[in-house]
Amino acid sequence: MTTSEKVRVLVLFGGRSPEHEVSCLSARSVLAALDADRYLVTTVGITRDGRWTLVDGVAQTPAGVLPSVPDEGDTVTLVKTRKGPRLVRFGDTYDGEEVGPVDVCFPVLHGPYGEDGTVQGLLASYGIPYVGADVASSAVGIDKRQMKNVFTARGLPQVPYVPVRRSVWDAGAGTVLTEIEDSLAYPLFTKPARQGSSIGIRRCPDRAALLAGIDEAFEYDRSIIVEQGLQGARELECGVLGNTEVELEVTAPGEVVTSHEFYDFDGKYLDDNLVLRCPAEVPDRVAATCRAYAREAYLAIGARGMARVDFFYLEAAGQVLVNEINTIPGFTPVSMFPFVWQRHGLRYPELCDRLLELAVSAAAIDARWAP
Ligand SMILES: Nc1ncnc2c1ncn2[C@@H]1O[C@H](COP(=O)(O)OP(=O)(O)O)[C@@H](O)[C@H]1O
Ligand SMILES: [Mg+2]
Repeated sequence: MTTSEKVRVLVLFGGRSPEHEVSCLSARSVLAALDADRYLVTTVGITRDGRWTLVDGVAQTPAGVLPSVPDEGDTVTLVKTRKGPRLVRFGDTYDGEEVGPVDVCFPVLHGPYGEDGTVQGLLASYGIPYVGADVASSAVGIDKRQMKNVFTARGLPQVPYVPVRRSVWDAGAGTVLTEIEDSLAYPLFTKPARQGSSIGIRRCPDRAALLAGIDEAFEYDRSIIVEQGLQGARELECGVLGNTEVELEVTAPGEVVTSHEFYDFDGKYLDDNLVLRCPAEVPDRVAATCRAYAREAYLAIGARGMARVDFFYLEAAGQVLVNEINTIPGFTPVSMFPFVWQRHGLRYPELCDRLLELAVSAAAIDARWAP
């Protein structure tokens, strides 16, 4: 393929979320997997401040040190021109210089300002096809409170929980505490509504820990949830690909086995003992239930492109509960999404091809209804 025939892919990574480093790890794997014969890739690292910078991939880091986007590269921005969307770079004088056209974007971003519909809105307004869920689905998927409401409406079984807003907590913590302790039993889990990678999540064995957990969760979001803690639950995860109801593909569940008390940040990215299995060793009925719930969860939020749906499996009770959906799942070397697809015969480069194809076909569907 000549350079002019290649698909021009914009890869975005880093970003303003506390998952900045995780996004860099994911992007490193995605960049390594994108077929250089098919794609002309431009990499934009978004700094922690939200500045878009032109970078040459993800910086190498010593073992055990997570990569980040240095605040060094030239500022770039997207511009819609008569010839289509272009990436433009600025020097210190802010004279714009064209970097090139953008055919499709792969936002390899996790958490707020990346996985929550904000970047998707920017891309949609410029008419740039992008990998993954649209604005509304991204916004619902990232917000555990909204996600749970939508799952409940779809009849999906979930862990009991109490949502708490900052304003209500400040106005009467005692009343909220009573509501929590009357309806749930310790240990509890406290979680910011819109976060990922277990950031801001605590396991709370008693009231003192709960109060500390609530305070910590509020550092990340004004909306949090307090959830019933499950003892000994196994964690199963399914990959989903597709744009429409009739073409969805769902993998068999994989299982994460962590040596940590729960699957916390260090357990996810800094634990040499983490084990991923696929297919999970569970009865066929349980695997089928996960796949059915994964499909329902995906359709419930209106996801497209891809998502990973996570479950708790309570073996003794034979029960599967839906934990959450991730509309931009991790793509790190120890992430489940690429792993389960690999076990399904879709190697990393083919997975990227498929995601970019789905992005382009989703944009074509949208264009038919464009106002
Ligand atoms: N109700 C719960 N009971 C037991 N463990 C939980 C519960 N909720 C979360 N966890 C643990 O915390 C991890 C992160 O929680 P999760 O809701 O998936 O947040 P995130 O979006 O940050 O991944 C889970 O993978 C699991 O190990
Ligand atoms: Mg999770």
